Amino acid sequence: MDLMEKIVALCKRRGFIYPGSEIYGGLQGFWDYGPMGVALRNNLKHEWWKTMVSQRDDVVGLGPAIIMNPQVWEASGHTVAFTDPLVECKKCHHRFRDDQLVDGKCPDCGGEVTEGKTFNLLTEVYLGSTEPKQLAYLRGEITQGVFVNFKNVVDSNRVEIPFGIAQLGKAFRNEITPGNFTFRSREFEQMELEFFITPDEAEATKWFGYWKKIRKDWYESLGMNPAKLRFREHAPDERAHYAKAAEDIEYQAPFGWKEMEGVHHRGDWDLSRHHLTYQDYTPWVIETSGGVDRALLFFLIDAYFEDDKRIVLKLHPKLAPVKVAVFPLVANKPELVDKAREIYKHLKLDLDIPTAWDDRGNIGKRYYAQDEIGTPWCVTVDYQSLEDQTVTVRDRDTAVQERVAIADLDSFFLGRLK
Ligand code: GAP
Repeated sequence: MDLMEKIVALCKRRGFIYPGSEIYGGLQGFWDYGPMGVALRNNLKHEWWKTMVSQRDDVVGLGPAIIMNPQVWEASGHTVAFTDPLVECKKCHHRFRDDQLVDGKCPDCGGEVTEGKTFNLLTEVYLGSTEPKQLAYLRGEITQGVFVNFKNVVDSNRVEIPFGIAQLGKAFRNEITPGNFTFRSREFEQMELEFFITPDEAEATKWFGYWKKIRKDWYESLGMNPAKLRFREHAPDERAHYAKAAEDIEYQAPFGWKEMEGVHHRGDWDLSRHHLTYQDYTPWVIETSGGVDRALLFFLIDAYFEDDKRIVLKLHPKLAPVKVAVFPLVANKPELVDKAREIYKHLKLDLDIPTAWDDRGNIGKRYYAQDEIGTPWCVTVDYQSLEDQTVTVRDRDTAVQERVAIADLDSFFLGRLK
């Protein structure tokens, strides 16, 4: 099995990610997050929001609707320019983006392909109960919700340029070739900042560099291997229709260096298309646009470790779906179970630390299961605990156990989760 197959299997086995609507054969490009996956995704989004909104004075949050008046997409240029080049193999009739061809031939059967056609990626929906129904679109990028609310935010908040509007939410693209697990999906979540500045090249250069660094540092602060991260500048002919300049933060995945997040200089493209100004000028925008699902996949790949004894997800404790697991050494000794239950409840309810309980099988199996979901610490209540009020705390990465007084557990965990 190659690494990607192992990760896909682990995701299914341990409840991170399942194929979407699997019992009906799935649906290409759609994925469902299981109990562990949704916890990991929430943690990732929480950390992003903290860095990009809560801890800053110059960024406010927004939660716009997914479906907007279709005129938004006319104005933003997406109905015309949000396209991929599509070709079809004349032999096997499979469809591809033309940059996926191998020497101009079909990558599946080597057949000849048709001339490239442009294919619009917006997903259409139809609203209302009377015919003709109203055509609308699922948003192809979450971004436009910010621009159409620019005036609302300026009028209802004390914001002054330079300032940013940040949001998290689902986007939809009718991708021609979804693939590489969740990497290219048709439904995915984005985490974006639109940062408004005065229209000036020097300002744009300054803020572009500033946000590039903040974003790369963020991935590294959550444990991503810096050697697997790089920036890649877009050539003029690959930039999106709105971008004056664009650089991707790429991750070295098992399937090559791949885009994880884009930093874009959008100039005044969007605000001027929506006829919006600030005081007497049209601000420029520096954007940071990351994919939640892509980042999550790359965090999983980066954290995956195996040796001949175990498989471990070495996720940063802030991202780990479960932070602590509590075990009684054996399940049939009520004194051990009661004490372990007490610790479990205290951590989970009083300290609000995501904590798991396990009293099945032997300790080795319980450690194995927690390692696979990336739980940083396992607490075991044993016979010594009844005598001296200590427990063992086992570290996921080193598998080393240390004895800690029950009275010190709060500071032990809270200190490490800060
Ligand atoms: N508002 C700018 C924008 O949407 P983008 O480069 O098209 O820019 C930003 O997308 C990020 O969204 C990408 O870097 C990627 O992480 C994520 N993304 C884009 N298309 C995706 C897809 N089909 N599946 C999963 N994530 C995707």
